[in-house]
Amino acid sequence: VRVAVVFGGRSAEHAISCISAGSVIAALDPERYEVVPVGIARDGRWVLPGAGQRLAITDGQLPEVTGGTAVSLVGDPAGRGLAVLEPAAGIGAALTEVDVVFPVLHGAYGEDGTIQGLLEMSGLPYVGSGVFASAASMDKEFTKKLLASAGVPQGDHVVLRDAGGAVCPDPDVLSAADRERLGLPVFVKPARAGSSIGITKVTDWAQFPEAVATAAVVDPKVVVEAAVPGREVECGVLAGPDGGPPQASVPAEIRLKPGTDWYDFDAKYLEDAVEFDVPADLTPEQTRAVQQASCRAYRALDCEGLARVDFFLGTGPDGEDRLVVNEVNTMPGFTSISMYPRMWAASGVSYPELVDRLVASALA
Ligand code: DAL
Ligand code: MG
Repeated sequence: VRVAVVFGGRSAEHAISCISAGSVIAALDPERYEVVPVGIARDGRWVLPGAGQRLAITDGQLPEVTGGTAVSLVGDPAGRGLAVLEPAAGIGAALTEVDVVFPVLHGAYGEDGTIQGLLEMSGLPYVGSGVFASAASMDKEFTKKLLASAGVPQGDHVVLRDAGGAVCPDPDVLSAADRERLGLPVFVKPARAGSSIGITKVTDWAQFPEAVATAAVVDPKVVVEAAVPGREVECGVLAGPDGGPPQASVPAEIRLKPGTDWYDFDAKYLEDAVEFDVPADLTPEQTRAVQQASCRAYRALDCEGLARVDFFLGTGPDGEDRLVVNEVNTMPGFTSISMYPRMWAASGVSYPELVDRLVASALA
């Protein structure tokens, strides 16, 4: 089976996608899969990366797609081709057929339905959610709306539209009533982003305008979320074998080491700032609640293939558990330290089996 693993991309999570792809490529059994790595540079150029392409953090340097031979991924419902476009030779000068595409892309133009639309139009099967589920899960506003209508609990929040426009940074963009209700701290987030890029934890309303401006650099739509004090728990969902119902992994917990304030980009990837409990130390009832809510969120958003659902597990007014969904990731991180493959490994699905099942579900 020939698999095009597509990575990099135009989003702020470019580097993380490269690292995820490195792990996915390493996990694809060479006896069964022929991998065609396809990089997307930050400016949107598609390339077959050269031999020097780095797909890991080395000496603190994040990887990036730069050089390579220009290509474009095209196909037709009958032909299924990856065409290498060589400018001198003309379009389609060399054609490499692929059976399936694994878009290991995070964030905009990758996890948001855009490449999924391209692949649908090209008739190429691909791993993961389709256009709608990808777009809906990428957008924190619409994720929340759809989850709310499916009865999946979540934290209080306010959406600021056009936050990059004339109204901002206007400290009054959030009404006094909203401030009162949300309380402090709040997390100010770009509506469509990932890996905590563009997010600020605001502990004093004086920081708020700058936080909105920071988020608006990534996305003019900004979401202001009430902090949910409690534990940070994640759970993986994977399409069942042979088209069966989706399955949930054991949940995991992220515990911040002393001195780490919250799970930001550096804590996620660059610093030794967190401890992971895989599986999380939860009661059987808590585990079941997390797994059920994960599958409900997956179905509510029409996800396919895989998703990682992130939660806060807090305590309600009467001391009862309060489980709220933070967000849904349709192409969760696949780095060697990433939670999604680790949760599946702890659930009895090894990394090679996991990618195997994902490719199989795309081809089913
Ligand atoms: N957005 C990052 C890659 C994640 O969810 O793991
Ligand atoms: Mg995310």
